[in-house]
Amino acid sequence: MRAVVYDRYGPPEVLRLEDVPQPVPNEDEVLIKIHATTVTRSDCGIRAANASSGLFVSFLSRLYSGVRRPKRRILGAELAGEVAAVGTTASEFAVGDRVFGTSAGRFGAHAEFICMRESAALAHKPAAMTFEEAAAVCDGAMLALGCLRQADLRKGRRILVYGASGSIGTAGVQLAKYFGADVTAVCSTKNAELARSLGADRVIDYTQQDFTKSGETYDVIFDAVGKLSFGRCRNSLRPGGIYLPTDGLWNLILVPLTSIVGDKKVRFAIPPRFAKKDVLFLKELIEAGKYRAVIDRSYPLEDVVEATRYVETERKTGNVVLTVSS
Ligand SMILES: NC(=O)c1ccc[n+]([C@@H]2O[C@H](COP(=O)([O-])OP(=O)(O)OC[C@H]3O[C@@H](n4cnc5c(N)ncnc54)[C@H](OP(=O)(O)O)[C@@H]3O)[C@@H](O)[C@H]2O)c1
Repeated sequence: MRAVVYDRYGPPEVLRLEDVPQPVPNEDEVLIKIHATTVTRSDCGIRAANASSGLFVSFLSRLYSGVRRPKRRILGAELAGEVAAVGTTASEFAVGDRVFGTSAGRFGAHAEFICMRESAALAHKPAAMTFEEAAAVCDGAMLALGCLRQADLRKGRRILVYGASGSIGTAGVQLAKYFGADVTAVCSTKNAELARSLGADRVIDYTQQDFTKSGETYDVIFDAVGKLSFGRCRNSLRPGGIYLPTDGLWNLILVPLTSIVGDKKVRFAIPPRFAKKDVLFLKELIEAGKYRAVIDRSYPLEDVVEATRYVETERKTGNVVLTVSS
């Protein structure tokens, strides 16, 4: 089968298409013929051994993905496709079923086929969604879900979603709205309409206005794009307020510190979790018309380098899809 592989950490150009052996499912696995996958910020971070985040983070990244060279040669986690074979004990899926999900930390989705345990974060694809749309559901939404679950969102709670136009941000706005919160989205002018269409009650254009200077306060501030800090938002949090980061190792120190000192807390959902029950939850939301994947651009698998360069501009709106044809 064709797959995008890399054998050393580095820029997008280390990625190349290669013919590799097709995986064979174990007894509890399904073999999926992938129709669409995505390029995420996680793919980019792992491929570059997170070198731009400093020596310590890069060292941790290499401990995870291989110290001298990548342990797994194929990146990509999100996918949508068709079941091509099932292991002997697998019973939830049958050959021909259309599925979507994420292989999360195991990667391997930038390829024509992947094997996944049927107990992994995998579910039947919502019938009304295309493969491209379904491939772009899980990563941002499951990361956002993990964060928002730490904040007891419900009717009457005010949340500010900073970076509302990214993969995690577009998911964060929709999920916060679903949980009943009053949602303020922060994004640039070009994405204001999108944020409103996703359910934001109001939109702040960060190129025109600094929300930390407006005097408005929130129960929850969700930094969906890793550009804020607790220190910067603290005065915009109400007493008892919660700051939810998606990035920044220093937040791991602030979590225990703010649990002892002060009445405003930092909660960091790390490591992220990718469970089947959450894919099933998202499927339900999609089928009820309460969630959609936002897609910026689609590229054929062979243009993975170009797609990756675009993701690394950190300016994508929602998600970037790779289509896989045999
Ligand atoms: N916790 C985890 O496990 C985990 C996993 C993966 C990623 N992450 C982190 O999560 C963060 C978000 O990832 P993502 O994939 O959702 O990001 P993304 O899609 O790449 O975010 C891009 C979006 O952010 C907006 N943006 C860029 N600079 C901004 C700023 N200064 N203020 C407000 N918006 C800005 C851009 O809109 P404009 O161009 O219009 O400004 C663009 O729409 C990243 O920091 C990533 O490292 C965390």
